[in-house]
This record gives sequence, structure tokens and C-alpha cells, in this order.
Amino acid sequence: MAFNWKESPVGQTVVAAIDQAKDQGPVPSLKKGERLDGKTCLITGANSGLGKGIALEFARAGARVLMACRGGIPEAGEEVKRESGSHQVEMLPVDLSDFASIHALCDKLRDSNIRLDSIVLNAAVVPLKPRPTVQGFDPMFGVNYLANVVLLERLLSDGVIPNRSFAQPPQEVPAGEARPRIIVVSSEDHRRTQGICFEGLGEYYEYKVTGDIAQYGKTKLMLTTYAQELSRRLRDDRGVDVGVYTFCPGAVRTNIGRAAPWVFRVLLDTFMRFFFADPEQAAEPALYFAASEAMEGRSGVYFFRMKEIDPAEEALDHEIAQRLWKESERLIVATQRW
Ligand SMILES: NC(=O)c1ccc[n+]([C@@H]2O[C@H](COP(=O)([O-])OP(=O)(O)OC[C@H]3O[C@@H](n4cnc5c(N)ncnc54)[C@H](OP(=O)(O)O)[C@@H]3O)[C@@H](O)[C@H]2O)c1
Repeated sequence: MAFNWKESPVGQTVVAAIDQAKDQGPVPSLKKGERLDGKTCLITGANSGLGKGIALEFARAGARVLMACRGGIPEAGEEVKRESGSHQVEMLPVDLSDFASIHALCDKLRDSNIRLDSIVLNAAVVPLKPRPTVQGFDPMFGVNYLANVVLLERLLSDGVIPNRSFAQPPQEVPAGEARPRIIVVSSEDHRRTQGICFEGLGEYYEYKVTGDIAQYGKTKLMLTTYAQELSRRLRDDRGVDVGVYTFCPGAVRTNIGRAAPWVFRVLLDTFMRFFFADPEQAAEPALYFAASEAMEGRSGVYFFRMKEIDPAEEALDHEIAQRLWKESERLIVATQRW
């Protein structure tokens, strides 16, 4: 196969930096008074990078912020409290590479009668040397994709995210209040992959740097496709039950490349310093989806930074999405037989 520089780690960094520099033209923004006072929002992977930027912006906007993290407890929460001036910041431990840990988080939220107004599925991993998750999956498949399915299934069926579609018993949001919102952090890399491969879905295998990037794009395609299907299933003849929104934050100055070889990391750090956005700036789409009145009654929306665009065609394919949903269920059920 011919070498395509754009698919190499360096090529992808350059492409991301070029995209970042492009003017997006007119984009929506929050109106004065659109805030998150009185709202409870959970963010995964909020101890660093974009997730921490989102936690900070949500706290500044008045939300009670639940930071669901595997590390940085309590330091990251203390930092967000200090920088935002808010006391409504809590840290909850979760390791998304272990379904038992996800269930423990869900038990805690249910038993504490938490009701989420929004959730941001932000956590992701790009390991250089993959190690299987506790349930034996490829780590990027497990953390970047399937963990989110397990988490949402529980939160929706427990009514921690109030809804009438999956909750037992069904839960109504009081009239005049905004519907809950599920916000999914994807990546434009979901377009730069050769599609979802259902054969051996989620199986652990060893890959090197280039395969790493290809696998990352695939997990983001799965996540984006799943989000579209979820938005269909959380809509009925009465309209949107729970809104589902997906975005790529653009190129953000974070720790995402921490596992890369040092030469690439030096290059990445230099690029990031000059061309990538800082995490608080990149949090804008998440804040917009959580607080904007314009998003009420809308779902299945995809943003690249602050511009609404269509996700990849495959992510909009209903048949592929239904198959992915079914296969994901099958894999989750199989782990319960252990
Ligand atoms: N940076 C970019 O240019 C860019 C571009 C497009 C999309 N994104 C997306 O933005 C999101 C945030 O990434 P980032 O750039 O901010 O990278 P990051 O700084 O590496 O943040 C990733 C977060 O995910 C957490 N995480 C990883 N594995 C976990 C696990 N097993 N359990 C719980 N948490 C786990 C990390 O926690 P630890 O600190 O404990 O590892 C960290 O808080 C990701 O979804 C990424 O795909 C980033």
C-alpha cells in the first residue's frame, strides 16, 4: 500500500494544526444569561487536558461538577475549585478500563439520588503499548468506546439521567425544564479510518504507533455512530427525550500524546504550544451543548469546534449503527457470564 503522510502521526499533527488555524466563519455562541446554575454535570477524564478545561468552564458557569476520574484525586478537583471560585466540585473515582469500577460509580450515583442534567463523555486513551482491559478488550475499544456504552446504559436505566425511554420506572422532566443532555467527545479522526470492522470487534491485539492512530480513529467512529443511534432511541412521538450531542474539540494542548516515542512527543509539544488551543478554550462546544437554549429539542447534532457539520457518512448509517448496538450488547453480556 502507498505511504500516505497524512495518516502518519506527524501528518495527523500537521493536519490538525492546519484545521485549527482555519477560520470557521459565523458560529453560534451562548447568549447572555445562558448558564448552568442549579445544574448537575458529570465529566469523565476530568483530571487533565480537555476534561479539566470543561470541568473548569462548567464550574465557572455555576454547575455542580462531578469529575469522574481514575487519577488526580483530590488535587485536580482542588485546582478546579480554586481556579473557578466554586465549591460545588466533587471528584468520583472510576477506572473506565474495568466494568466493575463503572458499575461501582453508577451504584454510588444511584444510591446518592443524583440526577444529572448533563454528562460529558470525555475520557480516552491512546496507549503506545496496548494492554488488555480487565474484561480482556483492546484498551482503546474498551475505554474510548465500550465503557461509555456500559456507563450510559446504567445511568439511563437507573434514571440517574432522567428519561422515559429506558428508565424503570420512566421518569419525566418537569414541564418547562430542559431535557438532560449527553455530550460525546469525538474526533475528526473518526473520518480518517476505513470503517468499523465487525470481525473480531474489540479483540485485544498488539499494534505499533501507526496502528495506534488507526485504532483511535476507529473507536471514535464507533462512538460517533453509537451517539447517532442513541439519539434515535432517545426520541419518541413526543420529541427528544434526552439530547445527544457530539463534537470534535479541534487540536487541543493536552496530554493525549503522552505515550508517544520521545522524538514525536517533542515535536507534538512544540506544535501544541504554537498551534493548538488551550483546554478551556476548546471546552466551548461542551458548554454550549450543556447550556444553550437553542439545543433544546435538538439531538444527533455534531460540531467540529463550534461549527455544526455532518459526521462521517458511516456514522449516519442506520444499519451499521443498529449492528454496532447489537454487537456491543453481545460483548457486554458475554463479560457478565464470567
Ligand atoms: N487533544 C486533542 O487534540 C484532541 C483532539 C480531538 C479529540 N480529543 C479528545 O478529547 C478527549 C480528551 O483528551 P485529551 O486530549 O484531553 O487527553 P488527556 O489529557 O490524555 O485526557 C484524557 C483523560 O482520559 C482519562 N482516562 C484515560 N483512561 C482512563 C481510564 N481507564 N479510566 C478513567 N479515565 C481515563 C485520563 O486520565 P489519566 O490522567 O488518569 O490518564 C485523562 O483524564 C478525548 O476523548 C480525545 O479523544 C482530543
